[in-house]
Amino acid sequence: MELLASADMPAGYRFLPDADDVASFVLGKSTWSILALTCHIEIFSQVHYRQSIEADDSLSPLFKDVFMYHWKEESQHAIINELEWMREDAKLGKPERDAAVDDLIALAAGVDGLVQIRAKEDAGYICEHVGRTLLHAEIADVQAAMLDAYRWQYIVSGVEEPRFRSLLGSVIDEEQGKRIFDALTPIMKPTLQRQTLPLV
Ligand SMILES: [Fe+2]
Repeated sequence: MELLASADMPAGYRFLPDADDVASFVLGKSTWSILALTCHIEIFSQVHYRQSIEADDSLSPLFKDVFMYHWKEESQHAIINELEWMREDAKLGKPERDAAVDDLIALAAGVDGLVQIRAKEDAGYICEHVGRTLLHAEIADVQAAMLDAYRWQYIVSGVEEPRFRSLLGSVIDEEQGKRIFDALTPIMKPTLQRQTLPLV
């Protein structure tokens, strides 16, 4: 990662946070919650291809092909992952699943933490290289737009996908669903408040 950063990225761009720290945080959680998160990731990768690449005729056919083959691979991963998640679920009783739901909420908060760090870093990078001095309100808008975009890509688009919702809904009860929903609500709300300039 560091080598890639120094070789391929313009000066001043930083990859944060440390990948090993993220891995040990994730691997400290229960198998059920990791499989749920992985399934979510497989599904949002497919949403990304379908919504932003497949339908865009202005993209290079070669570029589209690369992502189409990646999408096909992700489809296979998603099927295998679903089976593994459901198999793991069958081993759990109510108390273990309750704890696993807590883990999933912690993982979602962890992903959001990563997304917030990345959005702030990338917004700072853009503001520094945009070629003019930005007003404080403009910098805040860039940060909010990056945060909303990253949250959409890495959290919201997967959570809203019917396949993920029905899988999750099939293994949790109403109270567990409410806990997850309550934790996700602030993350799913866009932060960018567009100001309307007064007419006079
Ligand atoms: Fe995958």
